[in-house]
Amino acid sequence: MKGRILTTGGAGYIGSHTTVELLKAGHSVVILDNFENSDRDRVARIPLIAGTADVRLVEGDVRDAQLMADVLKRHKIDAVIHFAGKKAVAESVANPLLYYHDNITGAVSVLSAMREVGCKNLIFSSSATVYGDTEMLPTRETAATSVSSPYGRTKLMIEEIIDDTAASLATFRAISLRYFNPVGAHASGFIGECPRGVPNNLFPYIAQAAAGIRDYVQIHGSDYETSDGTGSRDYIHVVDLARGHVAAVEHLLSSSADYAPHRKVNLGTGQGHTVLQVLHAFSKACGFQIPYQIGPRRLGDVPASLADPSLSLALFGWKPELDLEEMCRDHWNFQKRERDKSNIGMRIPPVTHKATSDHTDPHRAHQLTSGSRNVLN
Ligand code: WQD
Repeated sequence: MKGRILTTGGAGYIGSHTTVELLKAGHSVVILDNFENSDRDRVARIPLIAGTADVRLVEGDVRDAQLMADVLKRHKIDAVIHFAGKKAVAESVANPLLYYHDNITGAVSVLSAMREVGCKNLIFSSSATVYGDTEMLPTRETAATSVSSPYGRTKLMIEEIIDDTAASLATFRAISLRYFNPVGAHASGFIGECPRGVPNNLFPYIAQAAAGIRDYVQIHGSDYETSDGTGSRDYIHVVDLARGHVAAVEHLLSSSADYAPHRKVNLGTGQGHTVLQVLHAFSKACGFQIPYQIGPRRLGDVPASLADPSLSLALFGWKPELDLEEMCRDHWNFQKRERDKSNIGMRIPPVTHKATSDHTDPHRAHQLTSGSRNVLN
């Protein structure tokens, strides 16, 4: 069944890639984003990449429950994919109340609006961070949870809020997708990850070092019990991750789906790579050695994380297909375009809805048209 899907935070890194894959799969999409941590120029390229203009943009804040209900009603949304939220671990430690306010309030607002209008399918952007430093490697969804940052705690708390909401509503169903380490970019190089300020995460930091924006990569620790002493992670290409969302939402929309009120499902590859292995692969992708130094461990890091990805295959028939080489190639391709500024953003045309009966349209939806003027090279 093709659906009308709302992606909250749909202009962000994972949200924009998921929106592209939803459109390519024939769904229509409404993006809700406040552009606090995303970029208008990139979202304007989505119709070009996806080859369809069946996507609308509502600029607004997910914490506004009235706006959420209006958007769900006006666009007759069949399913919500809730990405919007803050996601920097270090920032959450420095400012926990900001994370509790933004992430929890946003989730409660989405759930309240869905209950009010009777929208009964939710995909939640969760994280493998809920497993903490687990003994179970590869990690199945049944592993004990153990969060060590306010960011991780908000993810676990929202999963529990969804548990309670699903239990209270007869036909409501949800899937929380626990991402391992999303990296890479769309092969076009038109969308990708653009961290503001100094990147916390490995891939964007390596990419900026390769682009000459950073002098070298600092490797956080080389005395872990891994093959070469550096930290090991389960990196997953963001396009694979996006396709996992499409499979999950189509599972919810299909009438034959299992009727578990709320499932938690890993999105990972089951393949681990160390920091040095990533650096080596990225150097191959860009064609030169990337400078690095070995430093002390980073507070809060776990030695290794690794998904057991079997449930996503069993439930949705989905598995990741892109490997580390493709992750590095596509991440580097995007970074080069960013560095060379070889593309100039396309402005979103100010198309507004017909005025509603009250002659004001509080939540103008911009039609993102593939035909709109663009100066992409
Ligand atoms: C990966 C490895 C570092 C930077 C975080 C969040 C998690 C999720 C993904 C949202 C580790 C090492 C890193 C650097 C390094 N986000 N590293 N030098 O910490 O596994 O997960 O992002 O859901 O919630 O916690 O990802 O990319 O920061 O680190 O050596 O400059 O790279 O020590 O071993 P992490 P990461």
